Amino acid sequence: MATRRFLITAGLPYSNGRLHVGHVAGAYLPADIYVRYLRATGAEVRYICGSDDNGVAAVKTAREKGTTPEELTSRYNASQRSSFDGLNIEFDIYGGTHQPEFVEMHERMSREFFLTIHGKDYFTKRTTKQLYDAEADQFLPDRFVKGTCPHCKSPNAFGDQCEGCGKSLDALDLIDPVSTMTESKPEPRETIHWYLRLDQLQDRLRTWLESKRDTWRPTVVNFALGQMTPDEGGLPERAMTRDLTWGVPVPLDDLDAQGKVLYVWFDAPIGYISFTAVLCERNGEGWQAYERWWKSPDCKVVNFIGEDNTIFHAVTFPAMLVATHDSDSIQGEQGEFQLPTNVVANAFLNIKFPGKEEEKISKSRGNAVWIEEFLQTFDPDPLRYYLTANAPESQRVAFDFDDFVKRNNTELLNALGNFFNRTMTFLHKYFDGKVPPSGTREPIDTEQLERCKSAVIAVADDIERCRFKAALAGVMQLARDANGYFDTTAPFRSRKTDMEACGRAINVCLQTTRTLSTLMAPFLPTSAEKCRAMLKLDDSAIAWATATDQLADGAELGEPQLLFKKLDPKELFGEQDG
Ligand code: 2FM
Ligand code: ZN
Repeated sequence: MATRRFLITAGLPYSNGRLHVGHVAGAYLPADIYVRYLRATGAEVRYICGSDDNGVAAVKTAREKGTTPEELTSRYNASQRSSFDGLNIEFDIYGGTHQPEFVEMHERMSREFFLTIHGKDYFTKRTTKQLYDAEADQFLPDRFVKGTCPHCKSPNAFGDQCEGCGKSLDALDLIDPVSTMTESKPEPRETIHWYLRLDQLQDRLRTWLESKRDTWRPTVVNFALGQMTPDEGGLPERAMTRDLTWGVPVPLDDLDAQGKVLYVWFDAPIGYISFTAVLCERNGEGWQAYERWWKSPDCKVVNFIGEDNTIFHAVTFPAMLVATHDSDSIQGEQGEFQLPTNVVANAFLNIKFPGKEEEKISKSRGNAVWIEEFLQTFDPDPLRYYLTANAPESQRVAFDFDDFVKRNNTELLNALGNFFNRTMTFLHKYFDGKVPPSGTREPIDTEQLERCKSAVIAVADDIERCRFKAALAGVMQLARDANGYFDTTAPFRSRKTDMEACGRAINVCLQTTRTLSTLMAPFLPTSAEKCRAMLKLDDSAIAWATATDQLADGAELGEPQLLFKKLDPKELFGEQDG
């Protein structure tokens, strides 16, 4: 069988702040699990991410903090890298759209994209009105203006997108707009911008999205198709340029383009491509080798995002890609940019601190759980576990500290950790650390080994469909079943009367730890490494196809190691009421 190839992206985080658990649960962790699994199946994979440095977010925060966008984005790019490293979220490259090592390639590719689309007449140059802050003496693109959403009436709408309903907006349609720079009421003034003709691309996008109904999460397809309903007038043209100086200059030889940059949501997704090109260059293949990942139908592109990014990944970016095509193919022919095979979006994460009400994560109110702080107290795997077992795959859920501690103690520790611990301790105590003979297996033994085989298939199937929560539940079920097998076969009793039966049971338990060590690896990489050390397996045991390989009779295994620590709520949070 030909090697499968995948290009995986996770939404580029804005480099104007630190990462919190909501970011990780939304995109980076599920993508990391997917990548680790795909690699374990022998697929060739590149996992691409980096910071989203351009646009209003960086300018606004830099101004608030009294620094420059360059300094700010460089600082947070480094902070993000270190948070991801701490969680063992491993990218093949972590770029940044304005970072020194990436900006040249990024701007070149963004310019080319814009010019190709321009050459194909998918832009309209328009004189329009934009909101202007007379006090600050500047136009107010995107997050520089806030107001009430004309669609859902949420008061949390910005100039380009509503945080309430996720729709793209034109700032002029905001109800009661206010400048976030000066708090003054802005006035409309004339300016010139380039609008992407989404109206002309929408029929092709609709056909493409309809073909994804069976394979994508319904929330994503339905949201995207919902933007195209004729009774709401379908997709409007959207401005892809801004009155701003921080970003990629509009690449037109036109006086009207001076002092303007590309809209951050135009250049940011191109970051996925430009970082791939830098990766290829660094690998010595030449930057053009990015085409092998982006312009070849036999490579599947999968985008992982948080729900607020849906419109841009399921509508705007695909529209940009389609707009570059020469052929009528929507997915893209060989040599043309491929549309994503899947856009996997998670909902937001709320937060619940002990003794407090569940609330939305809010950076401004400081009620987020920051990764760098979290990692000062906790190991990465318990967080990876909790954020996957409790993943916001189909709806908002809360990061609940009490629940985090409880699940660490009852699931990770009592089910998974305990099974390894009791098996390995028993082995060293009564079998000198050597795998006892498998002997003649009884039905109860073969049933347990069959459970291992079925889990390998079921967990793979769930991961292939991006059902990470269900996949992890499958791994944990195998651990629980294994504890049940241990209890029923009771080697702690048979060792006194029937050493052969005792050895047979421990052998089956060890074979189960062997399978678990492979199945848990995408989710809990550090703990899986400890398991491999206990079982004296090298990294090749990550390969999915080896998951039910048997440990040989008599093989000498490593010392038991504790996989997880018990967390004490009193120590962590102090005494609580009730
Ligand atoms: O929501 C965000 O944090 C955006 N910076 C995501 C950008 S994703 C992409 F297209 F680059
Ligand atoms: Zn809205």
